Amino acid sequence: MRKILLDCDPGLDDALALLLAHGDPEIELVAVTTVGGNVALPNTTRNALQLREYLGFTTVPVAAGAAVPLVRAAEDAAHVHGAEGLGNVVLPLPTLPASTQHAVDLIIGTLRSNPGQVHLVATGPLTNIALALQQEPRLPEWVASFVIMGGSFTRGNTTPAAEYNIFADPEAAAIVFDAGWQVVMVGLDLTLQAIATAPIVARMQNLGRLGEELVVPLSTFWNDVETAELTGQAVHDVCAVAYIARPGLFTSRPARVDIETTGTFTAGMTVVDFDSTSPNALVPVRLDVDGFWDYTLGAYAIAAEEIK
Ligand code: BDR
Ligand code: CA
Repeated sequence: MRKILLDCDPGLDDALALLLAHGDPEIELVAVTTVGGNVALPNTTRNALQLREYLGFTTVPVAAGAAVPLVRAAEDAAHVHGAEGLGNVVLPLPTLPASTQHAVDLIIGTLRSNPGQVHLVATGPLTNIALALQQEPRLPEWVASFVIMGGSFTRGNTTPAAEYNIFADPEAAAIVFDAGWQVVMVGLDLTLQAIATAPIVARMQNLGRLGEELVVPLSTFWNDVETAELTGQAVHDVCAVAYIARPGLFTSRPARVDIETTGTFTAGMTVVDFDSTSPNALVPVRLDVDGFWDYTLGAYAIAAEEIK
């Protein structure tokens, strides 16, 4: 059993990552914290609450965190995720409230009371994690591991240099990468291998009501790749949760990762040195694509059984 605390900004692929953490019977989702990112904080939080009730993990706390980045103005990604954040998906409004705790307090409290047991996974801008580190510098001693979806070593998707989660709050990312722990950086170079192509979508269509109402629409709202050979949406954030459960599907390399915070054209760039003698990160570079989809769709099938 692997315990996961997921800090996220749902978000199409954040929702698919939540679904994986819920569906895999070997993962225990211990808490969900939200951050402003893809859409504003009230929307990311409402989306997490709606998903919690729709999927049925109602005993798992959902806590709202930072609405805006540490220093910069918020820049959303509603052009990717739709105005509400979940594309065309419309779920019933939540009937259960968010936790009265702030996300940062829930992160610190959960890790402090379960030292070495909880994997911290962040799939949005790193604002909550940076605030938690500022308040509690012992956080790195308490995590079982720390995995983010963010960054890249070849390219950006928001600017030529920067991936969205790092671009949205580079100052927070700099604090997080400098905190003295190993950051598993599941970046774009990896996640652009996890594309919901037409054959994958056809498999998603076999998931009954869950497929029709959630998985297919969340996986087909946007195209990250559109070439003659390959077209489809990358399920970026799903890869970060899959890394916890199936690290063997990933080929990873240690690296030193520094965050560009001042560049005129490069703010939010992750500068990755695979030759460094002082690595602070582990960077998955290659994905076993077939194994990834077999694992992910298998876990989705288990969740689909529950909401027939
Ligand atoms: C990342 O940015 C967000 O828009 C997605 O949810 C994902 O976390 C991909 O660059
Ligand atoms: Ca995200």
